[in-house]
Amino acid sequence: MLSIEIDGKNYQIPQGKNLLEFLLENSFDIPHLCYHPALKSIGACRMCAVEVEGSKNLVTSCTAELKDGMKIKTNSSLVDESRKVNLSLILKEHPDDCMTCDQNGNCSLQDLAYEYFPSGKPLFGYLEKKKI
Ligand code: SF4
Ligand code: FES
Repeated sequence: MLSIEIDGKNYQIPQGKNLLEFLLENSFDIPHLCYHPALKSIGACRMCAVEVEGSKNLVTSCTAELKDGMKIKTNSSLVDESRKVNLSLILKEHPDDCMTCDQNGNCSLQDLAYEYFPSGKPLFGYLEKKKI
């Protein structure tokens, strides 16, 4: 077992456990678009990234290598900002036609867009403001 601190609380996590799976099983709200338990994680969407103490960059929880004594933050302002930027970049390249899409109403990307940008389409304005 590994002893890992997550958002200030200590957890015992079996060696080799996928961090994203552990977080989801323990009711942490972690957005994730490219993870599937039947497939190898490739860390493509970066929506599941978390802060790891001592790490220069945010770490995708679906590919994270867990180490004993790790300290993780899942809900810091840095994590929130990263989710918004990543989501905006994904949406920027995405067709704007939910109303005619078969996935309408049953789509994780659509759900996240509403959750992180409840006022709707000024999504791209967000990137412009950030000069991305
Ligand atoms: S419903 Fe989902 S997949 Fe379809 S256009 Fe909207 S965001 Fe894209
Ligand atoms: S779920 Fe997409 S990078 Fe982890």
